[in-house]
Amino acid sequence: MSNTIYQEVKVFAPATVANVSVGFDVLGFAIDRPGDEIVARRIDGQQGLSIKIITGTGDKKLPYTIEKNTAGYAAAQLLRHLGQEALGIELEIHKKMPFGSGMGSSAASAAGAVVAVNELLGAPLSRESLLYFAVEGEQVADGAFHADNVGPSLLGGILLIRSNQDLDVHRLPVPEGLQIAVVHPEIEILTKDARAVLGDQVALSTAIAQSGNLASFVAALFTNDLMLLSRSLQDVMVEPQRKQLIKGFDDVQSAALKSGALGCGISGAGPSIFCLCDSGYLAQSAGQAMQQAFASHSIESQLYVSPINQQGVIVLSKS
Ligand code: HSE
Repeated sequence: MSNTIYQEVKVFAPATVANVSVGFDVLGFAIDRPGDEIVARRIDGQQGLSIKIITGTGDKKLPYTIEKNTAGYAAAQLLRHLGQEALGIELEIHKKMPFGSGMGSSAASAAGAVVAVNELLGAPLSRESLLYFAVEGEQVADGAFHADNVGPSLLGGILLIRSNQDLDVHRLPVPEGLQIAVVHPEIEILTKDARAVLGDQVALSTAIAQSGNLASFVAALFTNDLMLLSRSLQDVMVEPQRKQLIKGFDDVQSAALKSGALGCGISGAGPSIFCLCDSGYLAQSAGQAMQQAFASHSIESQLYVSPINQQGVIVLSKS
């Protein structure tokens, strides 16, 4: 923490893969790219927070009203907590990834906004203490309070959330050499719609299988056992309900596994699909095979290959 007050802070907030097949709402990791850039700037003579510009949304629009914007609401909640809601601050939100993509776009903007504003004020709060405000911001987008995207975007790494209500969040070890391919097909799915397709009952046999897989996935990270990790990455609970929203899902998943991926599943609420691999070379070739599978269903896609991002939000400049 420093007491220096800055005029302008620019940050980068990374994309994330939530759920990771076996941890619906309780597991997520960050990747190096894509990600959003957020600028927070002090404006003398202005009363309160405003959003000056939002770029990168193509022909879609995001709200400029603070209460309706994930970044704006997160920053406003932080400023209110600090008793600084009257301070003149404007935000710039530069979207560098599509929303409705399953890569945590709204979460990245919320995480970036709280870090940018906190830094602008001389970092009165720790990074961990910012999580609550960022999760409140993301809740504006889908109505649910879960940190599986916001947490890793803010803090980096692979995070396990024991309780979303209590924000009891734990960092898990990352096996050496683990690489991720994320393929984003040109389909849009809003998280609130992907949540609406889920039933509210789970059969006991499904709960047993899913908890065995989640526990074994965590054990595999601690023991660096990639074969156990591979056996564990099977979503028997949510994927069967959501995959019909993603045309070609079964073919894409099977292309990744045939190419040697350790596991493959829906990234967050979809439609992006991720796979975990034990080398960058394999992640690249599995990702390309996944793209070809989408192409065979006449769906264009983008591929991102990355290690697990360990930093979370980074400050690009401060003045
Ligand atoms: N856990 C969330 C979901 C992530 O799958 O609905 C997307 O925000």
